[in-house]
Amino acid sequence: MAAFRLCVLLVWATITAATAQSRILPDKPSDTLDKEFHRQRREQLRKQLPARSVAVFFAAPVRNRSNDVDYYYHQDPDFYYLTGYTEPNAVLIVYGEPQTIDGKQVQDLLFVQPNDPRAEQWNGKRLGVEGASAALGIATQPNTTFKPYLDKAKLQQVYAKPLPADVRDDKRDNADLYSLLEQFKAKNLTTDVKALELVMGQMREQKTPEEINLLRKAVSISAMGQVEVMKAMKPGMSELEIQGLHEFVHNKYGAHFVGYPSIVGAGNNGCVLHYIESAKPTIGNSELVLMDVGAEYKGYTADVTRTIPANGKFSPEQKIIYELVLKAQDAGIEQCKVGNQFSAPTQAAQEVIAEGLIKLGIIKNKAEVRRYFPHGATHYIGLDVHDAGTYGPFKPNSVVTVEPGIYIPEGSPCDKKWWGIGIRIEDDILITGKGWENLSKQAPRTVAEIEKMMAQPSALDDFVLPEIE
Ligand code: GLY
Ligand code: MN
Ligand code: MN
Repeated sequence: MAAFRLCVLLVWATITAATAQSRILPDKPSDTLDKEFHRQRREQLRKQLPARSVAVFFAAPVRNRSNDVDYYYHQDPDFYYLTGYTEPNAVLIVYGEPQTIDGKQVQDLLFVQPNDPRAEQWNGKRLGVEGASAALGIATQPNTTFKPYLDKAKLQQVYAKPLPADVRDDKRDNADLYSLLEQFKAKNLTTDVKALELVMGQMREQKTPEEINLLRKAVSISAMGQVEVMKAMKPGMSELEIQGLHEFVHNKYGAHFVGYPSIVGAGNNGCVLHYIESAKPTIGNSELVLMDVGAEYKGYTADVTRTIPANGKFSPEQKIIYELVLKAQDAGIEQCKVGNQFSAPTQAAQEVIAEGLIKLGIIKNKAEVRRYFPHGATHYIGLDVHDAGTYGPFKPNSVVTVEPGIYIPEGSPCDKKWWGIGIRIEDDILITGKGWENLSKQAPRTVAEIEKMMAQPSALDDFVLPEIE
């Protein structure tokens, strides 16, 4: 009897576990863009195309690093947005109205690299012609048929983006991107570049719910990197080590790449806006460390900056400048509302910084503010870190950064006590119908929050490696 009861219990437990699991595990990751997403983007584009016109997109070039080693391949963001295809040597045609090709009605046509067992043994699987059609829900042809297609097609009104110039010719492949571009250029078609860039910008500026999900994830991952580094930071660590900690956290959350080279600058290095060398071997005890690092998750990139004191405590001067940048950022974020001019956050931040620097005697008048705050405070993020968009008045469902900074390099014409302070605070802001939401708020922002987080122990405190001679 007891055995029977145990058996019933086990069966019940198994069924419950299975049901719970099927509830928890969806068929596919809910945060992967599917073919319907990309199809809808092509429809959205098609609505803007006049009848009998076509838009032509080329995949991004493979970029060579040196000799026979290439950089990681990164698809052209527009191409990815419209297709989901992540391989090189491809062309997309979006028709203004359906076409009959080989007896079939098509609205879009994607030329892709065919399967090639030898190439795939070395460089990984290709979707291939049928595979790409099935996976992406689009009519496909081998890229080797692009030339005969062009010879037959009567392309009248053609929209295209500027053609990439940094393309290497693979002489063994007559359908590599180099050849596809040559074939296209040989037709001497007049193309409208401006109109297509405008349309793609309008589309990419306003994110769909799926894109917002991915951006949320990329931003949260980046914020977690900042949190872990705040706990782990110690004077004496190297800039490169700090960069590695951020990127390790990203990788642990499944983000393969950073959306731009990581910026980790200690002391005076923090005053170089895009300092990517991470060259300083030993971060000084009293230095600030500026960390502008953005995880790229499934193509979408965050852009988050925190500036923290290496020893866990801001000096009086560092705190004064930090709180001025924070006040400017708050003023900028308040401007992130539908209908406001794109320049509004920058202007608001500039006002606050100018006034503050005048009060501190660092500058004499507002016109000098650009010496210490020389960049804009806002750009869109998305598939690019400086994403496509109209840069006109704010629209709902766009995601922008607000990133004021004050940089006072050694030798600046002000009291020496300010020298070597470089501070940027950058958050990623979703513009909603009602106002804004700070997607990176998990990363501490205020002086008190940062100092509190830095006092926390880190799992990495015990991660000590032996010296190497
Ligand atoms: N990380 C580049 C920028 O902040 O725009
Ligand atoms: Mn930025
Ligand atoms: Mn940044």
